Amino acid sequence: LKDLLEISKQILTENDRGGYTIPAKGLYPYQWNWDSALVALGWATLNEGRAWEELEKLFSAQWEDGLVPHIVFHQPSPTYFPGPEIWGSVQQPMGSTGITQPPVAAITVRNLYETAVNKDLALQKAKELFPMILAWHRWFQSARDPEGTGLVATLHPWESGMDNSPAWDDALHNVPVDQIPPYVRQDLGHVDSAMRPKKDEYDRYLTLLYRFRAVNYDCKQLYFLSPFRVTDLCTNSVLYRANLDLRWLAVELGQGENVKEIDGWIEKARDAFDTLYDAEEGLYKCKDQLTGKLVAAKTSAGFLPLFARVASASQAADLARTLERWLNRVKHSIPSCDPEAPNFEPLRYWRGPVWAIINWMITDGLRAYGFEDLACRIEADTYELLLSHGISEYYNPVTGAPAGGKLFSWTAAMCLAWLS
Ligand code: DGY
Repeated sequence: LKDLLEISKQILTENDRGGYTIPAKGLYPYQWNWDSALVALGWATLNEGRAWEELEKLFSAQWEDGLVPHIVFHQPSPTYFPGPEIWGSVQQPMGSTGITQPPVAAITVRNLYETAVNKDLALQKAKELFPMILAWHRWFQSARDPEGTGLVATLHPWESGMDNSPAWDDALHNVPVDQIPPYVRQDLGHVDSAMRPKKDEYDRYLTLLYRFRAVNYDCKQLYFLSPFRVTDLCTNSVLYRANLDLRWLAVELGQGENVKEIDGWIEKARDAFDTLYDAEEGLYKCKDQLTGKLVAAKTSAGFLPLFARVASASQAADLARTLERWLNRVKHSIPSCDPEAPNFEPLRYWRGPVWAIINWMITDGLRAYGFEDLACRIEADTYELLLSHGISEYYNPVTGAPAGGKLFSWTAAMCLAWLS
């Protein structure tokens, strides 16, 4: 264990760019939104001040309208595409993308605040971050749920963090590919193409980017003009949990006047979540907002309502049963897609591989609902996997082989914050 912790510490230290942590050298050379919020949990075990700094750096790039971008381009880097010149949003506080990612920050702030040794620092930092996080969550309501459905929309696969999830196949297929400038992918110079999204998907990712750029990422227009608009279970589960934690922080930090507003979001979302539950499958499903249909694909995001605490006790029991079925089909938990599904690809990014951060979220949810044995099984599995295969971006659930970026920050952070 000591070795694993030492290696994890070394990874965060080497990926530290002065107040923010890159996910991995070469492949991801900037600050990614949800990566950073998860990495801060790891930093907190080493240096609390550094953990708070990670979030401060992220929020220093917050847009006036409240958006917290999915990538912040603090310094130029030639190893990533599409970089700041393609996004073209340099008029913002600093170069950044014009879309967001699952809003983990409030969850991290509560966690850091509750576990802090330096209570004075925690109080000061949580107070500073609270209004910025509140503004971001308000942005989610106004920009991504302008019709008041209770659930927020995701307008780009990169916003979901689960870029090439089979849950997006049909919705992405309906995006027409525009005449976009020729481009060279850099990711394939770092990672085997069998582990990454395909060209078809990239053409559409970029089509969306250029369409959004054409309206200067104006959030009032994007919801209505995007040819890709889905209800993502990861984003909505993380947001739901983040709202619970933001509410807790509001009370704790003497910001009680905001509680009613946050409660309103939570209540509305709670009812809306039920419309995503597939009782026959014992799993939640994403939705294509433009066709109005639930997505057939069965992905690990379908278990994240446990992390949110939004599932009922009987839904949670169904989810635990479904999850056990999945786990019995593979050697390493948790595959990102149903291993029995025809589109299961154990090596390709979000179409099968194991992700430590998702294991952490689902384990946390299972514990909250009393499924301690299953939680322990996943925890032990994850620990074994990392111990035998090193700290990678993701892993093949059948063989355990490490895949994607090497020496990966959020996997290292999970070692420090969860598995130690
Ligand atoms: C990438 O470049 O692959 C990232 O997932 C975008 O966020």
